Amino acid sequence: MFDMNLNGNGQAERGLTPAVNGHNGHNELNGLSGHAVRRRLDLTVIIPTRNETDNISALLGRLAASGDPFDVLFVDDSDDSTPDEVRRCAAAAGQLRVQVLHRPAGERGGGLGGAVLAGMRAVRTSWVVVMDADLQHPPELAVRLAAIGRDREADLVVASRYVGSGAASGLDGRMRHAVSEGTIRLAKLVFPIRLGPCSDPMSGFFAVRRDALKLDTLTPNGFKILMEILVRHPKLRMLEVSFVMASRLAGESKASQKEGLRFANKLVALRLGTVVRPIARSAAVAPTAWLARVLAFGLAGLSGLVVNTGALWMLNESGGLHYLLAAALATQVSSSWLFLLTDAVIFRRAKPGTLAGRAAKFFLLNNVALVARLPALALLVEVAKVNVLVANLVTLLAVFAVRFAATDVLIYRRGVPTPAAATSPENRPVPGAAHRQPIREVVDLGTADASVLTSSRPLARYLPYRYVIPEVASVGSQIELPELDYFRAQWLGNEAEIELRVGPTGDRRLHRRAQMTQLTEPPAACYQEHFGRLGANFTIRFDGTIQIVVSPRLARSPHVVYTNVLEALLRFVAVSRGVMLLHSACVEFDGHGMLISARTDTGKTGTVLRLVREYGARFLADDMTIVHSDGTVGCFPKPLTISRHTVQAIESHELTSKEWRRLRVQSAIHSKEGREFAILLSRLNVPIMAINAYAQRLVPPPKYAVDRLLPCQVIRETTVRSLFIIERGPFSGGEVSHDEAVRLLLSNTEDAYQFPPFRQLSPSIVLGADDHVELRRKEEQILRSAMSHVPVRRVSTPDFSWAPEIARLVARNGNGNGGVNVNGHVTVALMTRGHVPDGHPPIGSNGPVPR
Ligand code: GDD
Ligand code: MN
Repeated sequence: MFDMNLNGNGQAERGLTPAVNGHNGHNELNGLSGHAVRRRLDLTVIIPTRNETDNISALLGRLAASGDPFDVLFVDDSDDSTPDEVRRCAAAAGQLRVQVLHRPAGERGGGLGGAVLAGMRAVRTSWVVVMDADLQHPPELAVRLAAIGRDREADLVVASRYVGSGAASGLDGRMRHAVSEGTIRLAKLVFPIRLGPCSDPMSGFFAVRRDALKLDTLTPNGFKILMEILVRHPKLRMLEVSFVMASRLAGESKASQKEGLRFANKLVALRLGTVVRPIARSAAVAPTAWLARVLAFGLAGLSGLVVNTGALWMLNESGGLHYLLAAALATQVSSSWLFLLTDAVIFRRAKPGTLAGRAAKFFLLNNVALVARLPALALLVEVAKVNVLVANLVTLLAVFAVRFAATDVLIYRRGVPTPAAATSPENRPVPGAAHRQPIREVVDLGTADASVLTSSRPLARYLPYRYVIPEVASVGSQIELPELDYFRAQWLGNEAEIELRVGPTGDRRLHRRAQMTQLTEPPAACYQEHFGRLGANFTIRFDGTIQIVVSPRLARSPHVVYTNVLEALLRFVAVSRGVMLLHSACVEFDGHGMLISARTDTGKTGTVLRLVREYGARFLADDMTIVHSDGTVGCFPKPLTISRHTVQAIESHELTSKEWRRLRVQSAIHSKEGREFAILLSRLNVPIMAINAYAQRLVPPPKYAVDRLLPCQVIRETTVRSLFIIERGPFSGGEVSHDEAVRLLLSNTEDAYQFPPFRQLSPSIVLGADDHVELRRKEEQILRSAMSHVPVRRVSTPDFSWAPEIARLVARNGNGNGGVNVNGHVTVALMTRGHVPDGHPPIGSNGPVPR
């Protein structure tokens, strides 16, 4: 189809023209250690060109200057000598592998966008960067965009002129500026949800993970291919990087009035395309989708109530019909309205059956509800003497919940994917979609606007609350942090390594969504929510002393400050000191240190309490343990959260009756379900930290120091001799390989940080020379080394009885049934109780379970 200027150089299998000998793609890391490890990028930079001869040399020179090896693909629609110039300059492009895909006149479908799409179809690398040839897009940024995307696990990285220190200064003339901003506004008006999160959907500079795109959904027409990508892939995990658009180096812009028309055309076509010809997507029920449907259904229902009441009023009070007849007719009117709304708007995706079929079921359902409603209505009007309109409303509300469930399941068969929907490749879930969160993620590569970092008001100098977490960090704080109470310290003249202050952070404006900005100059992270300075915002500076500033709103909830800001940070600060904060409990039996790891809300705390009370274990941690690479561990006694299940491990005399009463409410809110609800909520565009802070202030989490709950000895450190991974499930257990154990421990640690904005914060953390990828690599190393001689067992029980199981395993070692191996470590043999489900032969069981 294209004239490909083949000059056969081993690249024929790609159907592209190598312009010159490139690098020989060796794939392994290049043997460096520490932070200097260069993580090789699998990248092609696609550059659409049309008559750009005079820009090629400078462009390739600057691309090559990065020193990184990657592919460059020119998709060329030129009538001048651009392709020859590319070939000429490629020779000097060093480690770059440069190729040209020339489209001869007559085969230049789609213009600029068509060229980009043709390029994307031709490349095989996992990342693609699209950029202009005229040096308006700084070539040095190309590799960085892709690297940021890869390191932050994004699908799409947009270089934006309208975020942070970005600027559109290179646009010539006020006219172009106005046009640029106007088109963005217009496009966002047309696609408020899909384009809303992106500040610069018109950008021609972006990096994208090739597999995240469904290229067949794209039908580009001229400029603005990014806009179409965003519209067609609403679930992409997108982030933005600021950039300053330079002026064109040579030649002239191909933007024209004709392009403007093509853009308008495209916008209309896209909008119609998504309303009239919806793309069938996965029918699998995501909780967010479900919540969104409940809300949409609720709103539609509300409009239905208005329509129904209006119709009833017209028919009954104005028209003089009997109220029961009027109510029956009003239901037909509102049902029609609701059906249109439901079918066209709420359940927009692939639907089973025909329109008429669904309509019939819908009306049937509403009329069944009507039959149930009429007697209730009559009762209210005749007996309770309630006004007809009010009575009607009451009965409507009563059937609302029932109707939603029925519509959901009976007509639209939610939760039951239709076979077609499940198998067509188009409907396979987009990778990364599960992570989508409404918090905007921005990386600002420019010098930060000072107002973001320094508040107008001077902050407190004196930090009255001081904590020293051995070998992790010292913290000086303006607010008391109850979680760190055990580490309270008094010292004078000592500088804290982490300083936490309260002050205004963020700007004064309202925002459509929360945003996490990673600043690079100076290194910092800024989180800001919807309500400007009134929001639950925070800023962390990473240069020198780590300085955290939390907004007054957030400061009023120290628990949120600790869990969602400080603890996330401590985890990585620890790694930078060579220790790991492992999400795990830790106790000691007669010098036998033992870690207990589990997913959040499994039952670690209850198990630890029982081990301490019933088996005399000594306490180090119930949630987080300081792990050294030599296998020794340090204590981290945070106040324990008493959830519904943990309550069973506490004895009644240990709390006052008032505390017990409070605990019932507290443990209901701060339960597994409560947390799950909060995480669900966090997928919506809400100021989640502020909500969390309010909720925690209203109902503080039930937290008690361990020695407040039971007599207990806290010890500072021990050596780990065994590790148990506890799970809920049928009785089972067995040895776990070292690799598997490390994987489980890391995943359990990650599981503890599900709450936003950790996902946006953690990649913004830079400590010294280490970015977050490097920090995570080091964290894994520490863990691997620490666990290298520790036997690991999985213990699964259905009834929270891990404590007796673990105690028996340990005791068994003590009476010679187990043993001590050559390394001096205990080998444990797992025993399960008497009856074990089929397929799990009992591994030996004797004696009653100690209670
Ligand atoms: N292959 C091909 N085919 N390339 C084209 C075509 C075409 O029909 N038209 C333009 N190009 C190339 C140009 O050679 C240049 O490398 C790049 O696409 C951008 O074209 P310009 O003519 O420089 O456009 P611009 O600077 O006015 O617009 C740029 O900025 C806009 C934002 O203000 C582009 O990046 C737009 O996509 C972007 O929206
Ligand atoms: Mn340009």
